[in-house]
Formats: sequence, structure tokens, C-alpha cells
Amino acid sequence: MKQEYWDGMAKDFSEQVLEISDVDLNNVIPKTAKGLGGKNKNAVDFGCGAGALTRVIAPYFGSTLGVDFSKDLLDRADALTEGTNISYQFADLSVPRGKRFPCDVAFCANVLISDDGAVREGIARKIVRNVTRGGDAVFIVPALESAIRLYQVAFAGQVSDGYSKHEALAEINGWARKDIASLPEGIIKVGGTKTKHFMGDELIEFLLAWGLRDVSLERVFYPWSELLEDEPRGLKKSLPWDWMAVGTKG
Ligand SMILES: C[S@@+](CC[C@H](N)C(=O)[O-])C[C@H]1O[C@@H](n2cnc3c(N)ncnc32)[C@H](O)[C@@H]1O
Repeated sequence: MKQEYWDGMAKDFSEQVLEISDVDLNNVIPKTAKGLGGKNKNAVDFGCGAGALTRVIAPYFGSTLGVDFSKDLLDRADALTEGTNISYQFADLSVPRGKRFPCDVAFCANVLISDDGAVREGIARKIVRNVTRGGDAVFIVPALESAIRLYQVAFAGQVSDGYSKHEALAEINGWARKDIASLPEGIIKVGGTKTKHFMGDELIEFLLAWGLRDVSLERVFYPWSELLEDEPRGLKKSLPWDWMAVGTKG
């Protein structure tokens, strides 16, 4: 996913992309920011897009910076932002050297989604390097378990709508064949774009490898309406989610 891909989405970013901080049903993101924040601390939101999460976390920090490599999204973020303790800057996080963004707390929501493992690792390494020792990093990523659960839910929904098990399986297996680009790598197409999804254990292992310790995991639940036209009956409590991992720089 190149810079132009994200620039092309700037106009109607909220319609095209899941901005998880806008649909975080249990307010896990502001609660986490509150727990890690302080008026003497600064936060950086790496891959801030139109700044939705930047604005959610800003009240809990002395200053907050959003960083992205899409100039059009940074313009959009600026236009949507009123807070005086928020600023935005351009940077390509996949470039190993370059400008540093030292911070007490790093946030990174749905940026480690490239189907290229080297790109994901480069971005994660760069973000962790910018966190001061003893500071924290918060990574939110699409959950592979949740993506697979969608097929189960859709299958159960079709059966309860009166389709035979055979018909429902043919339909849902068809979706899965179309969407799942590589199960062992956790690559699933979202809106036709190959997108990395992490399993919970995998995310913890990944972040430990890049220098975080005491990594904990939480689910950021969002509504079914983000994925399906009709909310599946009887599954109000079984919602889709992104993983949120929080770790301390060792
Ligand atoms: C799915 S959007 C998430 C936006 C935002 N974090 C949110 O949750 O609303 C992914 C963002 O990552 C940014 N991004 C992807 N690769 C990047 C890179 N190498 N350097 C800087 N930003 C990058 C894109 O421009 C886009 O804004």
C-alpha cells in the first residue's frame, strides 16, 4: 500500500476505512490513554491518517503529534482538529533512518497491515525506537480470529434464515476462498486489498521481538454494522474486534 493509495482515500476516509477509535464500543482506547498519560507526557500517533485517534488521546497528554506519509490525510487531519496541543507532521515510517519522534507513549492503529512482512517489521522497529526507555507503546491491529469468526457468524445466519447447511456452506466457503489470500501469513482481503491480520499470540511475540516487555492484550470491540449489512440475530454480545497490545520499552 503506497502513499498514493492512502492519498486517494483522503476525501471520504471515514467511509472507506475503519477508524477504530470512532467505533470503539467499550472506550478501551481513551481508557488506555488515560492510564498511560499525564500532562507532563507526550504521545505520538504513528500512521495517524485523518487524526481520529490522535484527537481521542490528546486530552490525556501534554502534547500529541500525529505522523503520516499521506499529505492529503495530514491536510484532512489538520482541517478536522481544533485542539491546541495537537500537531501533525509528514514522515515515511518505512524509511529506516530519518527524522526521530521521541515520545513517552507511542500509539499505532491499523498501520501494521501491509502484506509485506519486511515493511511491517521496519515500521514496528522504528516506532519502538522512538519510545523513551520506560515509556509505553500501544499497537492496534486487525484480529485474525475475528476475521475467521465472521465466516462462522455469516454461516449460522444463513442457516437460521432457512438456507440448507449445504447451500450456506457453499456460499460462505466461496467468500472465504475469495477473501483469504494466505491463511498461514494471516493475509485476508479487505475491500479487495490484501491486509495483514494478527493472532493474539502472534502479536505479543512480534512486539517482544522488537524490544517491548510486559506486553498485554485487549480486544477493541466494534459493531457488526462495520462488516455486515444486517446485525446477526442473537449475537449482540459476540462482536468483531481488533487486538490492542500495550507494552513497555525495556
Ligand atoms: C488504516 S489507516 C489507519 C489510520 C489511523 N491510524 C486510524 O486508526 O484512524 C493506515 C494509515 O497508515 C498510514 N501509513 C501506512 N504506511 C505508512 C508509512 N510507511 N509511513 C507513514 N504512514 C503510513 C497511511 O497513510 C494511513 O493513514
